[in-house]
Amino acid sequence: MPVYKLDNTKYPKNMEYTLSIIKPDGIRRNLSGKILAMIQDAGLEIVAQKLIHLTRAQAEKFYAVHAERPFFNDLCSFMASGPVSVQVLKSNNAVSKYRELMGATNPKESSEGTIRKAYGLSIDENTVHGSDSVENAKIEIALLFSSLELFA
Ligand code: CMP
Repeated sequence: MPVYKLDNTKYPKNMEYTLSIIKPDGIRRNLSGKILAMIQDAGLEIVAQKLIHLTRAQAEKFYAVHAERPFFNDLCSFMASGPVSVQVLKSNNAVSKYRELMGATNPKESSEGTIRKAYGLSIDENTVHGSDSVENAKIEIALLFSSLELFA
């Protein structure tokens, strides 16, 4: 488990990590370069990154928190439909900073300047995922990265 490397006591107050996914619609449309530039321009440091193709079972495990929601099946099918690019981002207040940069879950409701406003297709194909809390970030990072892959 890489969690020991994410011990916030080693870093300045508010230094955080968050898990980012460029979803299959973003990879299919060759948007990862543009999205990574937006991430870096916002002051989020990429401390781990890889391209993976989730199995249906891995997608279900990742989104287990949504298992009872009506969109769960479609969400897992979509996330397993093609490769995704996953990153660990580091910054002061990384969780809220990245959520602000992503914009609202539904691209139709997202603000100008956000990733989902620029590239999101629909609430299902909304191009990026970001952890919604520091606690969930630790869980999501541990699910997708080993300690050897983190340059935190
Ligand atoms: P994400 O941030 O990856 O977290 C769960 C995903 O479920 C979300 O982005 C959306 O792409 C998808 N989703 C589909 N329908 C809904 C909905 N009604 N509310 C929230 N998320 C939804």
